[in-house]
Amino acid sequence: MPDKDNILVIGAAGQIGTDLVLRLRQELSASQVIATDVKDLPAGELLESGPFQVLDVLDYNAVAKVIDQNQITQVYLLAALLSATAEQNPKLAWKLNMEGLFNVLDIAREKKQFKMFWPSSIAVFGPTTPSNLTPQHTVMEPVTVYGVSKQAGERWCEYYNQKYNIDVRSLRYPGLISYKSPPGGGTTDYAVDIFHKAVLDKHYNCFLSKDTMLPMMYMPDALDATLQLMNAESSSIKIRSSYNISALSFTPEMLAKEIAKHISDFSIDYAPDFRQKIADSWPGSIDDSFAREQWGWKETFGLSEMTEDMIAHIQERYALGANK
Ligand code: SER
Repeated sequence: MPDKDNILVIGAAGQIGTDLVLRLRQELSASQVIATDVKDLPAGELLESGPFQVLDVLDYNAVAKVIDQNQITQVYLLAALLSATAEQNPKLAWKLNMEGLFNVLDIAREKKQFKMFWPSSIAVFGPTTPSNLTPQHTVMEPVTVYGVSKQAGERWCEYYNQKYNIDVRSLRYPGLISYKSPPGGGTTDYAVDIFHKAVLDKHYNCFLSKDTMLPMMYMPDALDATLQLMNAESSSIKIRSSYNISALSFTPEMLAKEIAKHISDFSIDYAPDFRQKIADSWPGSIDDSFAREQWGWKETFGLSEMTEDMIAHIQERYALGANK
C-alpha cells in the first residue's frame, strides 16, 4: 500500500469497520486513516487510535467535504443495515444501503481521485440459486430487502465502473465472525453471539436450526481478502460487480461441537425464528475460484483455528471487565 494513501472509512463502528480501521492504522500511519460513523464512538481503541468524526453517508455535501479536505485516495463504504434489521425496517434499509452507495459513487465520479470498496454479501443469492458451491455467475433472486439492495448495488458498481471508469471493488462476504464488536443484526450473527454466550453462560439458544449450513469467514481472513483486493493492480480486477469469496462452511451443531472441545459443559438449544427463512434462502457453500485465480485469495482459518482464537479473545475481553 503506498504511503501517500489517505483513507476514509464510513460506518467505522460496525463489525467490519471496527477491525478494518485498526488494521489499516497498523499498516499505514494512524493519521492516514479517518474513521467516521453516524454516531459518536464510545471511548475505546477505535476512538483513541486515530482521527474520528461524525459523518452521515446520506449527507452528500458532508461526505464530499471530508474527502476534499483530507485528499482521500481510498473510501471504504461500510454503512448499511444488515439482513435481520433490514427486514424490520425495509424502507430505511433501502434508503441507507442504496443512497449511501450512490452518494459515494457520484462523488467518485465528480472528483476522480479515489478508489472505493463496497461490501456485498451472500444475501444477493436466493432460494432458486444452486446452494452447493454457488458459482460466481448464477441465478440471483434474493428474497430479503438487504439482499435486494446488495444485488442492485452490485449492478450499479459495475455500471459506474464500465460507464465512468470508477475504480470500485467489492466482495460478497459470507457470515463474518469477530470478537471486537457485538453481533450487529445479521442472520449469520448467531455465529458471533454463540461465543459470547458460551463464555458467559455456557449455554446458547440458537435462532437457527442445528443443520443450517452457511458460508462463514473469520475476520482476519476477511481483512486479508479486503486489503488484497484493494491493493491488487486494477487490471487484475476483472469482476466489478462483486467477487464470491469463501473460507469455511458449518452448521450451528458443528460449531457447538467445536466450542464444546474448549468449554466442556457448553450446551445449546434450537428455537428457529424469522431468521431461519432468511438463512434457508442463502447458499451453504460458495465457489470463489475467480478470487483465487485473479488476485490470489486464500484463507488461513479453518473451523477449529477460528473457534480456538475466538474463545481465547472473548475470554480475555470479559476477564478484563468488558460489558456483558
Ligand atoms: N452477515 C450478513 C447478515 O447476516 C450477511 O451478509 O446479514
